[in-house]
Amino acid sequence: MDHRIRSLSEFSQTYEKSVENPEAFWEDIANSFRWRKKWDKVLKWDFKGPDVKWFINGKLNITENILDRHLETRGDQTAILWEPNDPDEQYQKISYKELYEKVCQFSNAMKANGIGRGDRVIIYMPMVPEAAVAMLACARIGAVHSVVFAGFSANALADRINDCEAKMVLTSDGNFRGAKTIEVKSVVDEALEKSSTVEKVIVFQRTKTPVTMKDGRDIWWHEAIDGVSLENEAEEMDSEDLLFILYTSGSTGKPKGVVHTCGGYMVYTYYSFLNVFQYDEGDIYWCTADVGWITGHSYIVYGPLLAGATTMMFEGVPTYPDAGRFWHACDKHKVNQFYTAPTAIRALEAHGLEPLEPYKLDSLKVIGSVGEPINEEAWHWYHLNVGKGNCPLVDTWWQTETGGIMISALAGITPVKPAHASLPLPGIQPIIVDREGKELTGRNIQGNLCVKFPWPSILRTTYGDHERCRQTYFSAYENLYFTGDGAKRDHDGYLRILGRVDDVINVSGHRMGTAEVENAIDEHPKVIESAVVGYPHDIKGQGIYAFVIAEGEGIEEEVRKTITELIGPIAKPDKIQLVKGLPKTRSGKIMRRILRKIASGEVADLGDTSTLLNPEIVEDIKSGKV
Ligand code: PRX
Repeated sequence: MDHRIRSLSEFSQTYEKSVENPEAFWEDIANSFRWRKKWDKVLKWDFKGPDVKWFINGKLNITENILDRHLETRGDQTAILWEPNDPDEQYQKISYKELYEKVCQFSNAMKANGIGRGDRVIIYMPMVPEAAVAMLACARIGAVHSVVFAGFSANALADRINDCEAKMVLTSDGNFRGAKTIEVKSVVDEALEKSSTVEKVIVFQRTKTPVTMKDGRDIWWHEAIDGVSLENEAEEMDSEDLLFILYTSGSTGKPKGVVHTCGGYMVYTYYSFLNVFQYDEGDIYWCTADVGWITGHSYIVYGPLLAGATTMMFEGVPTYPDAGRFWHACDKHKVNQFYTAPTAIRALEAHGLEPLEPYKLDSLKVIGSVGEPINEEAWHWYHLNVGKGNCPLVDTWWQTETGGIMISALAGITPVKPAHASLPLPGIQPIIVDREGKELTGRNIQGNLCVKFPWPSILRTTYGDHERCRQTYFSAYENLYFTGDGAKRDHDGYLRILGRVDDVINVSGHRMGTAEVENAIDEHPKVIESAVVGYPHDIKGQGIYAFVIAEGEGIEEEVRKTITELIGPIAKPDKIQLVKGLPKTRSGKIMRRILRKIASGEVADLGDTSTLLNPEIVEDIKSGKV
């Protein structure tokens, strides 16, 4: 089974074929997997519903394709290579055989604790191999996992538990992050005071942080697996059964649970992984994301393991014990493909070249970027100093909703251009439209980025609220999936992503809904109203700027605390400006365009303010008057 494209001409031919007959194209790839029963029909779709189904009536278990299928050919090969937070702690190599056993054993343990097909399980864990084991064990028994980034607060965790009515939480005592040890279990305890559906909590011991274990509810991971069988018969799933829910921010206040299903997600993450990174047998691949985000799902766990790769998982942070940690780990493990976020690159760039000096980085073949537009300056720094000028740099554009990489160069196969995601992958049909939804063809054009044909890992719904899915992604333009991003096709025909065109900001590669942050700020008893916008930030890409109307003065720190409690430290504004009013239209809508300009320091040209209900407020805000 090798669906790796190996030349530019093969890419062009494959792309053409994939667009002419997408069903035959994807069917060929799906055929290389282990199915209990093949599909009756490849695809049924309608973007109006939306109603998209791939490999209809196909039966499978994704973990049989990750584990059982690889036992004979690569049982002893390392599946997960784990590099701990502390470089002096022993790293771990878990072979495919060992991973198989760990997953089977934990599957049995979960079943013994009441979890079965269709139940929702929240995973709130640090970057330890057990987090991947937890995800795969859920998939094996047909439970639906929802990983929540362990930096989210108890409130944010409770919201997600409640939204999906989770029956179990998998967590740890604590989390090592750089020089800090963070409490994790106590956050879960607090969240569970606000939710009633969780029956059992399994706690992995990592930091030996003292925790309270609630009788009848909480079990230690090591006790749950003690003496449990290493064999487990995987549950037979339908291709369209839920594999996982992943919550992501949108332009309304409440995060939505993006739903991915078994068959299509399997086919697409495998195919895109293999082709974008041009993974060779025996390579060591490292993606620095956290499993709490979609990148961690698709390109640490599912894609690489489906392809039989060795995937490295890193527990720590790029600057611990020093700013050379990434490069140290690359040399130590002879990493061949390295995939990270522009924000990490910019943060490391700020430390200069000294941290790189002790390292050769000569094992690297491919470097990648994900999460936000990579500016040209950071692109060149990364390409020259990390890739030594000879590794293709793949700038991969995609989203939680797309499940896998959609627009990217294939490393070493298709040309790269700084700051351009470049070309769509085979099977992906992006188009750029104007405001009315008219397709803009040709070159040197700019507009909103849509996709006109389904691909196997497109989101199927937003959990518990299908109408929201329709509204958000399928109602802006008829028969198109709307990404929420703006894009440009340049004179060479390459795509460049311009960033969000909705009220979503991208902070350090993480999506943050401005409404979500505003809702949190407004919870503070002294706050009357707030408006949040993004502004250019040297390291984070975008920073969070909050304009707040409040009673009294000096409440900035309290507001930050409220946000940390309600969402988590990642949503804390970089700047808070107390104001006495917000610029509003006559219909009462906040004019964010003006606030965005003020936040970005572009006060000279604020555009037309005459239609405002309260134009005088603009001068006050500009001058910082409260
Ligand atoms: O605005 C785009 C930006 O990140 C958004 C998706 O965020 P999320 O679902 O959290 O997934 C991030 C990881 C896939 C997109 O709508 N984005 C992601 N990758 C790029 C990007 N913008 C520009 N270039 C990219 N390579």
